[in-house]
Amino acid sequence: MEKREELYRGKAKTVYVTDDADKLILHFRNDTSAFDGQKIEQLERKGEVNNKFNHFIMSKLEDAGIATQVEELLSDNDSLVKKLEMIPVECVVRNVAAGSLVKRLGVEEGTLLDPPVFEFFLKNDALHDPMVNDYHILSFGWATENQISEMKNLTFRVNEVLKALFDEAGMMLVDYKLEFGIDSVGNIVLGDEFTPDGCRLWDKETRNKMDKDRFRQGLGSVVETYIEVADRLGLKL
Ligand code: C5P
Repeated sequence: MEKREELYRGKAKTVYVTDDADKLILHFRNDTSAFDGQKIEQLERKGEVNNKFNHFIMSKLEDAGIATQVEELLSDNDSLVKKLEMIPVECVVRNVAAGSLVKRLGVEEGTLLDPPVFEFFLKNDALHDPMVNDYHILSFGWATENQISEMKNLTFRVNEVLKALFDEAGMMLVDYKLEFGIDSVGNIVLGDEFTPDGCRLWDKETRNKMDKDRFRQGLGSVVETYIEVADRLGLKL
């Protein structure tokens, strides 16, 4: 499948249309951004690593019965995906306190969250992705009540599958962000990506950060650490 015109350019991926109206190509770039795009750098091999990592994780989720957008790994940096009408909210689940939760509520980083916390954020760079709740989503028509409950259920099912996967590989899944879309027949499908750019992973023993916080906090060895995460999961990059 060939890339045709560019449909959308995000901070780390570009989306292209294809000759098939129901399929798109996600191109993973080396661009790495943080703080609403205020910090941007090119990290060598990051696009390739994230493309292959995403394909690996989405395949695991498919195996567990969770419908995802991913169809096929096309090349180092490209994946073929189903076209979805994306719902403009981010679904975050937190198993351990970190990041914006720590700042917002003044809890200590590393506090275990049991049960896990679920949060919605509106995808809007200009407004810095504000937190929203079910009522905002319903009132503004971003999703229906059924779609909201489906997004929550699926996000927690992903938690069960991936918490176990990372745990077996010596890592803690601290938190992560998912995005969903609606396919051509109206089903809610997991879209966008699951990579160390959009989750927090800590080494179980040392609590070393193995995700994009290495970039945000200037800890170095960003892509090398992503490759180690993959390696521990049995994916050679
Ligand atoms: O920043 P915050 O603590 O709210 O992020 C929660 C989780 O969601 C983190 O794993 C972060 O990497 C991810 N996230 C993301 N894209 C955003 C906001 C958060 O991938 N725009």
